[in-house]
This record gives sequence, C-alpha cells and structure tokens, in this order.
Amino acid sequence: MSGNIKLQICDTAAAVATAAATAFADLIRTRPEAVIGLATGSTPEATYSEMARMHKEDGLTMAAVTSFNLDEYWGLGGDHKQSYRYFMNDRLFRHVDIRPWNTHVLNGKARFPGLECRSFEDRILAAGGVDLWLLGIGGNGHIAFNEPGSSVDSRTRLVSLTQETIDANSDGRFFSDPSEVPRCALSAGIGTIREARALILLATGAKKADAIAAAVEGPFSPDCPSSLLQDHPDCTFIIDAAAASKLT
Ligand code: GLP
Repeated sequence: MSGNIKLQICDTAAAVATAAATAFADLIRTRPEAVIGLATGSTPEATYSEMARMHKEDGLTMAAVTSFNLDEYWGLGGDHKQSYRYFMNDRLFRHVDIRPWNTHVLNGKARFPGLECRSFEDRILAAGGVDLWLLGIGGNGHIAFNEPGSSVDSRTRLVSLTQETIDANSDGRFFSDPSEVPRCALSAGIGTIREARALILLATGAKKADAIAAAVEGPFSPDCPSSLLQDHPDCTFIIDAAAASKLT
C-alpha cells in the first residue's frame, strides 16, 4: 500500500535540502505567522543551512513564525551539546529572526514529564495546530522517537529508545559512545504528528532505503511507525535517489 504519500525523488541530498527549505519558505511567505514543526538529526541540517541562507540573502523573515520540535532526550537540559534544544539553536534559530519565545522544544529536564507533554500539546492547540511539520526517519522506520510498536493515536509522552536508535545516534555524529545516550526521550506522538495539516519527511542515503520502502509500500502498521502516515491527506516524502533505491 502506498496510500496518499507523495514522493519527490531528487538526484542529490543537496537537492532534497533545497526542495524542503523552499517548501517552508513558500509557506512562511504566504502565511508569515505560520506554525511549523521541526526535526533534528543529520538529515535536516542542510535544510536549516538553506533556510538560514534564505533569511540572510533572500529576505525570508521568520519573525512571526511559531515552531514546535518533535522530541528531546530525557535528562538533557538545553545547555547540553547533544540536546535537541541546543541543536536547534545552533543549526537554525540563531541564524534567523524567529523569536526565541516562539520556539517550543520539549524540556528534557522537566520535573513532571506528563505535565510537560500535556503542556506541549496544549501549546500546539493554542497556536491553532501545525501547518507543516518536517520529519526525518530512523533506520527502523521510527518518526520522532516513536519506535516500532507505537500506536497510531499515541500522544506526546515519555518513551524508551531501542538499542538500534541508541547505536545509530552514537556513531560519532552526535554521541561518541552508546553509554552516553539517554535511554528515554520525550516525543510527540504519532497522533500528534498526524494532526499537522501537512507533513514533509526527508531521507537521504542508502541506509534509509529499507525504511522508506517499508513506510511507502509496506503494510500500514505500528511495526513501521512511518507507515502510519500513509493515510495522511498531505504527506510528501522528499528523498534522494539512494534512499529511493528499494522502492519498486
Ligand atoms: C533521531 C531523531 C529522529 C530522526 C532520526 C534520524 O532518532 N529522534 O527524529 O528522524 O534520528 O536521524 P538522522 O537524520 O540523523 O538519520
């Protein structure tokens, strides 16, 4: 089943970043007070560089934009270099004119995780919902930190990471040893993500080819959390040729 997922296959990873940044810039130019969802990981880094360039050189302003991030490691504060708050400040927020108070990243050091997650959901609702949410994909098909087994209607919550995800994030790009990676995270749920009016999922490289094939052509199943986007009314996968290589 491929459902409604639209595929945009680009020749290179650089073209993926340009296409994704352009989609966000088009939205923000049409609706300056847009509510956008953001992701972390290696894949969106080039997209954020391109958005920063658009701000500097093409007059793109994010002064009225509100953002929500997918997830955060449990136990890491925003000053920790591997926290997703630090990543977002470093890769995007400090390079553009988004107002810091309009950027929402779950607090990995919240005293009460349940309250933090509920407040995150409430803030999305108060902002009027997310117009366009950027996603990455894990090698096991996870989105945000919704690991295989996550239900289609899951909400923002404290989750455990699989060993595969811990290993993938400690290959030297982020953490240098699996023992440094937190075992838990706060993550927007699949139900939370599915409520965004539009979704763009990015994938580059052959390492993502199996996950992309399962998400697009496999069964609609919690075994592959990204397959639970198949019935979303406006979901586009922007991927490079290597990530598309296992699609039939
Ligand atoms: C982490 C993040 C995900 C991201 C995934 C893939 O697990 N929580 O949101 O999609 O990594 O990241 P990368 O782009 O580095 O492969």
